[in-house]
Amino acid sequence: MYQPWTVKYKPKSLKEVVGNKEAIQKFVDWVKSWNEGIPEKRAAFIYGPPGVGKTVTVEALANDFKMELVEKNASDYRTEEAVKRFAGLASQYGSLFGTRRIILFDELDGLTGTADKGGVKAMVDVIKTAQCPIVLIANNAFDPRFAVLRSYCLLIEFKKPSVTEVLKHLKAICLKEGIDAEENALKFIAQRSEGDIRSAVTDLQALAQGKKRLTYDDVSWLGFRDRQENIFTVLRMILYGKTCDGAKRAVNMADVDVDMLFEWIYENVPNHFTDPHDLARAMDALSMADVYRGRIKRTQDWGFIRYVIDYMTAGVAMARVNTKTSGWTPFHFPERIQALSKSKEERSIQLEIGKKIKRKCHISATRASKEILPYLRIIFKNNVEMAAGIAKWLDLTPEMVEYVAESKEKAAAINKLLG
Ligand SMILES: Nc1ncnc2c1ncn2[C@@H]1O[C@H](COP(=O)(O)OP(=O)(O)OP(=O)(O)O)[C@@H](O)[C@H]1O
Ligand SMILES: [Mg+2]
Repeated sequence: MYQPWTVKYKPKSLKEVVGNKEAIQKFVDWVKSWNEGIPEKRAAFIYGPPGVGKTVTVEALANDFKMELVEKNASDYRTEEAVKRFAGLASQYGSLFGTRRIILFDELDGLTGTADKGGVKAMVDVIKTAQCPIVLIANNAFDPRFAVLRSYCLLIEFKKPSVTEVLKHLKAICLKEGIDAEENALKFIAQRSEGDIRSAVTDLQALAQGKKRLTYDDVSWLGFRDRQENIFTVLRMILYGKTCDGAKRAVNMADVDVDMLFEWIYENVPNHFTDPHDLARAMDALSMADVYRGRIKRTQDWGFIRYVIDYMTAGVAMARVNTKTSGWTPFHFPERIQALSKSKEERSIQLEIGKKIKRKCHISATRASKEILPYLRIIFKNNVEMAAGIAKWLDLTPEMVEYVAESKEKAAAINKLLG
């Protein structure tokens, strides 16, 4: 059973929350000040970018201080009536059993401007008379709709944590998962997340789960541009899209090109479409998209791109008839792209070796790498002295020797003879 690592490694105590130490201290001091009577501001407004730990901080504090946390999401407080319904909760500090209560209105950004005006107004009334700490959370506290609300709140800003802080968190997870990860691999993921810890952890899980080792090569091919949070949203829109239009629109949101997006869809459809008929239909659509992709490559007529897009988005979305959206299925990074980029590297070293052979044997580099390389392989694997002699004659670099020998140990022995 899959469990998102963001849930598995969610901080339970404030000391596990990464970064934003000052903001957290400000929040803690304010909550503690309730012990000396009702403070001037009866609400705190925590704001900042997504995935930095705003929600988690409130939950961890409630846990540390053994407070009863009443958590509300936008759907619970759209209207005045909805807010009033639990206003009573805010009118006493303690609950029946003496534990202290803290009320959280999370994701205020989810309220729409005019339709939900009543909810925000009622919230102000609740805060004015609140007998227990109230916490509001939004990405942007300076939205004009929160102007009045804001004046009743202690503002607490959460900033993006540094790469070092994100890195520390990723390292801790790898340690617990028993993954031996290269420092620069984790650093790459941390940098790519741009301070969004949630997305860094999701990236790490998609790349490293089930592995014993995680190397820089495993992650570097991703590049910085295709931030996964974005691609996941796009994939979700396509794989779980209800309308052709929505699925097609997802393409414009993707910051990867159509070829890359195709790979993402191709890689993920089988895991997500559990019904065999759905899967067959989706694969049909993808194969049609691929036919048109081929046509573009051959003719350079980009007019076909709209068929590629239609088939791979709307075609796939409409293929899903029986598959239910149940449980949590992770998205995978396209292995094919990884394989392609690896083989590109491989091809280039092969060609370099071919060029070296060409210089001595006067045949084309391509022919050399095709016809002579296989024999070199056999020699390099079986006869270290002879291999060293040939490597010297051809003037091969240590990397080339390793490539021909296909083994680090053999290559080391050969390179040692070369001095
Ligand atoms: N500072 C952090 N330390 C440790 N883990 C974190 C931190 N921030 C985020 N995470 C991880 O990311 C998940 C999401 O964090 P959280 O819900 O607190 O983000 P948020 O700031 O409330 O984002 P949003 O604005 O999208 O609601 C957590 O469950 C946790 O796994
Ligand atoms: Mg949140």
